[in-house]
Amino acid sequence: MLPPDTSVFGDPDALAGAAADRLVAAVATAPTERVAICLSGGSTPKRLYELLAASPRRDMLAWERVHWFWGDERCVAPDDADSNYRLARNAMLAHAPVPSDNVHRIAGEAGWDRAAASYGSELKGFYGAETLEPDRPLFSLVLLGLGQDGHTASLFPDRHEVDEQDAWAVGIPEASLEPFVPRVSLTIPVLSSARTVLFLAAGASKQVRLDEVARGHDLPPNRIRAQGERLWYVDRAAVGPE
Ligand code: 6PG
Repeated sequence: MLPPDTSVFGDPDALAGAAADRLVAAVATAPTERVAICLSGGSTPKRLYELLAASPRRDMLAWERVHWFWGDERCVAPDDADSNYRLARNAMLAHAPVPSDNVHRIAGEAGWDRAAASYGSELKGFYGAETLEPDRPLFSLVLLGLGQDGHTASLFPDRHEVDEQDAWAVGIPEASLEPFVPRVSLTIPVLSSARTVLFLAAGASKQVRLDEVARGHDLPPNRIRAQGERLWYVDRAAVGPE
């Protein structure tokens, strides 16, 4: 079984290309001059990021308008192999005309509590308000992955951070899946403040959890709504036996 609004692609490369096109379109159709995009961590989006920084998409994206945020970060140095920022920088940001002020890195190395508090302030400062307005989404597009345990961003199943409704970002002292380092994650209301939420899932290891999401299990991805589209892009391997 698949969630509603799921597109199935033959392989991870086709999935990455379609996701890159969706991101380019989200920027092109954004009603605001500044466009906030929330990036995912993990390994799945790497190819997507590489495609955005390569021709022809590199020339299609209005880089000066786009502000890059992260849905979560590991509490490691920015040049650490586990850093979600490092993944996006090496695959995309370092290879495109990205104004440095447009990169809003989560400073995970400051520790989960301080990093979560300061990132929440940074998000509010960019948004220009202390509370999210239902008809004014913070993000044009939020990219999210699906962990083998059903987590998304760094919101792990059956953990209290999933229920957080007030803070814009939370610290997670112990991750439930590798890398077992403290994390910072945006919360459900903030990840839902989006014109489009696009989940990416590739590989057979995601079959079980994708099916559980499709069946409405109370997993973090099912807590996330969007003001507009809530889409799943998956590859053939992630689709279990019908
Ligand atoms: C993280 C990611 C996480 C990721 C999933 C899927 O910091 O770990 O943000 O939510 O999206 O774990 O990871 P893969 O793409 O590596 O399967």
